[in-house]
Amino acid sequence: MTDTVRIVEVGPRDGLQNEKTPVGVADRIAFVEALVAAGLTTVEVGAFVSPKAVPQMQGSGEVLRASLKLPGEFHVLVPNEKGYEAARAAGAKVVAVFASASEGFSRANINCSVAESIERFKPVIARAQADNVKVRGYVSCVLGCPFDGQVPVQAVVDAATTLWDLGCYEISLGDTIGVGTPKKVRELLRACAEAIPMQSLAMHFHDTYGQALANLYAGLEEGARVIDSAAGGLGGCPYAPGATGNVATEDVIYMLEGMDVAMGVDMDKLIAATNSVAALLGRPPVSRVASAINAKSGKTVLRS
Ligand code: HMG
Ligand code: MG
Repeated sequence: MTDTVRIVEVGPRDGLQNEKTPVGVADRIAFVEALVAAGLTTVEVGAFVSPKAVPQMQGSGEVLRASLKLPGEFHVLVPNEKGYEAARAAGAKVVAVFASASEGFSRANINCSVAESIERFKPVIARAQADNVKVRGYVSCVLGCPFDGQVPVQAVVDAATTLWDLGCYEISLGDTIGVGTPKKVRELLRACAEAIPMQSLAMHFHDTYGQALANLYAGLEEGARVIDSAAGGLGGCPYAPGATGNVATEDVIYMLEGMDVAMGVDMDKLIAATNSVAALLGRPPVSRVASAINAKSGKTVLRS
């Protein structure tokens, strides 16, 4: 467990895409700057999706342009070639495509079947390869779907393998609605690792049922070393009813440092970044570590 663990901070994208009150471009840029200042080196900063589908992500071009002036690697979501072109126009060097392991969520989220979504991603990935742009692949609903219920492990393996074979450098396994438990996470990672190297699998766990840290620990024991998390535990998907935020970056860092995994993140600066966004959103962070440290330092961010 003492190997390096890599964090992909998804707060500015997954965290803010679901907020009722959209956070403006200047505040999103300030959030990214604060996260980088805290020591996070890989940040997903926006999404080039339909503004009708997710108005919160409008202005992602400006956010990405500003982010690219900072040290680090900055990711953006793209659902199709139109999104890819907009991302490239803003200078994207890493894009993420997102498929679902379940048909119900695919239809709700991106208005097409899983197979159709893969067809849409093929030209995106081909163009990215020609442009020297890295492509990350998400698979959603890996441990359950808000529409279809149980999702067979094989459906996840099939979607993940397809994206991997198309050329994605890493596959992020999304427990979109946070229903997974450690046993299922272990089974899933073992099955996926038969086709994709474990070091190229990322764990993207929402914390709806409070299992995300336990699930990550199980995944670490299986050998997975990439974790997607969101500062403050922000997040959710507008097309996944009932889903709450990603596992909180503070909580992940606290756990890993407690396991002697050096993360190079300044916790006080990270919590300051989280508190700034909490103030904008008008509610305290759900991160337990942020709440504990705020309480200890006598800070009242906002009462729920
Ligand atoms: P559609 O309606 O089927 O697409 O939407 P369309 O091609 O028919 O286009 C409809 C309109 O959208 C047109 O505009 C297009 O120009 C426009 P109109 O003529 O009506 O004015 N359009 C776009 N505009 C900007 N950027 C684009 C784009 N593409 C089309 N790229 C589409 C299909 C995929 C576009 C839509 O459903 C969409 O944008 N969905 C995004 C949903 C989304 O962002 N969900 C959240 C992210 S996924 C997630 O959170 C899960 C994850 O975190 C992992 C996990 O937790 O599991 C990644
Ligand atoms: Mg997510």
